[in-house]
Amino acid sequence: MMGVLQQQEAGVMSGGDLNGGLGMTQMLLQQAMMINGMTLPVIAVAAGMWWRWQRAVVMSKSKLRGSSGFPLLGETMAYMSQMGSPLANFVDNKAKRYGKLFKTHLFFQPTVIAAEEEEVRMIVQKEGKLFDVNYPTSFANLLGPYNGLNIVGHMWKRMRRFIVANVLKPELLRERVNFIEDMVIEALSSWEGRTVFVEDEARALAFHVTALIVLNIHPGELNDKIKEDMYILIKGMFFLPIDLPWTAYGKGMRARERVVKTLTDYLESRPVKDDIYDKFIQTIREDSPEDTEEMLRGQGRDLLTGLLFAGHDTTAATMVFTVKYVGENPHVLAEIRKEHENVIKLKQPGERLTWEDCKAMSFTQDVITETLRLCNVSTTTFRKSLEDVHVGGKLVIPKGWMVLPYFRSVHYDPTFYPDPYKFNPWRYKEAGTKLPFFGFGGGARLCPGSELARTEICILLHHLVTKFDSWEFIGKDIPSFFPFPRLSKRLPIRVKPRQKTVK
Ligand code: HEM
Repeated sequence: MMGVLQQQEAGVMSGGDLNGGLGMTQMLLQQAMMINGMTLPVIAVAAGMWWRWQRAVVMSKSKLRGSSGFPLLGETMAYMSQMGSPLANFVDNKAKRYGKLFKTHLFFQPTVIAAEEEEVRMIVQKEGKLFDVNYPTSFANLLGPYNGLNIVGHMWKRMRRFIVANVLKPELLRERVNFIEDMVIEALSSWEGRTVFVEDEARALAFHVTALIVLNIHPGELNDKIKEDMYILIKGMFFLPIDLPWTAYGKGMRARERVVKTLTDYLESRPVKDDIYDKFIQTIREDSPEDTEEMLRGQGRDLLTGLLFAGHDTTAATMVFTVKYVGENPHVLAEIRKEHENVIKLKQPGERLTWEDCKAMSFTQDVITETLRLCNVSTTTFRKSLEDVHVGGKLVIPKGWMVLPYFRSVHYDPTFYPDPYKFNPWRYKEAGTKLPFFGFGGGARLCPGSELARTEICILLHHLVTKFDSWEFIGKDIPSFFPFPRLSKRLPIRVKPRQKTVK
């Protein structure tokens, strides 16, 4: 059968061959190609100039002040080296100089940092509309390309819905409270008469809880193997992606290979199927029938790795700093103890702590909020502007830039938190729910694990304050806050057993 082009050619040719046998279409095509040959580079150059001009217009309108540092690397090294300091850091210093919305250059990208409450709120609330997540490449490489923090749009919504409905649903978590309490009781049973490193205990506790919820595995050899490799993997996430045997990132990549292997072996041989992994794979198989089995398995594995990361080190760091702040403030310890002893008084002998008990202990919840405000497990998050974003009628965040809503600045802002460096859980009672709090993020990506984390910390505090009178800190720990809040000595303490019983 004659093609359309040939048919046209035949028609034209039959009307008269003016070009020595070339059909009209062919001639036009040839001319177009000649023109393209000449004009494509011109168009490309013109488009480039237009884009640069547009950018120049945006930048002149943008009016953002700031500095860019070295070519490519920008101010990344200064940012990373200062972010760990408990004192004024990179953002504080720049904000003082350039205002609370300023430009810089980080992780090879032009960047805007927002340190004012209004802009921070706007950025997290406009998720998917004006901004999308933009975590560093190292996150995707180490947690897997499909992990929840690196995906956007439909894939992310599908994963989030699944997590909220199947992994972190209150009804399911309620059933885990006894397990968490058993773990806490067992851990604390060996604390008397020795120096306890709270960070080690908290990390083990939080990992065991997350592993049970996510992988359905109990403490043991498999658990320890994944835990050790996850620590190395997580450390690598916060360094430049230079894959060499001696870099933290390189070590993280090898740890990822081991985690993937351990998980794959476990998933193939696990006794009980129909767990989170299977349910998730089934969900995406129905939703995206075109995905290959390998892709489905990859997405399932990345869901698990992402949850193992999101769930344990964050909670562990908060536990460590709660023990520190409560121990340093005897009046807080006394108040919190009163609240927990009241719960015990209302219970029958042997009756256990519940999810509802933890939610109802408002002072304890305020202690957790105040701990997160001060130690800022998540100092910021990573976003990218999807269009030129006009801010306050004066400034413009240019399209495609990395945007960091800086939670820590809001948490230390004395207009909201007078005497901001003071640990004062009572401030929430006085101010009600009006205080801006981004300890668990905000907007559509608000942490879905916040209730679980709060419950774990509440149960730890319950047994800590009812079993021990107080705890003494051994030596001086130096805090640092990047990438996670840490204490130089891992918070060594010695507990003093409780003299008085409650009932
Ligand atoms: C004190 C402990 C925790 C803190 C401080 C914390 C903090 C956060 C923050 C700030 C975000 C938002 C990130 C963003 O906007 O880019 C987030 C997201 C997330 N968190 Fe948590 N988290 C904690 C515990 C947990 C736990 C226990 C789990 C589950 C086991 C969990 C699972 C997640 C997940 C899946 C996301 C991603 C949500 C999404 O992208 O839609 N987190 N967390």
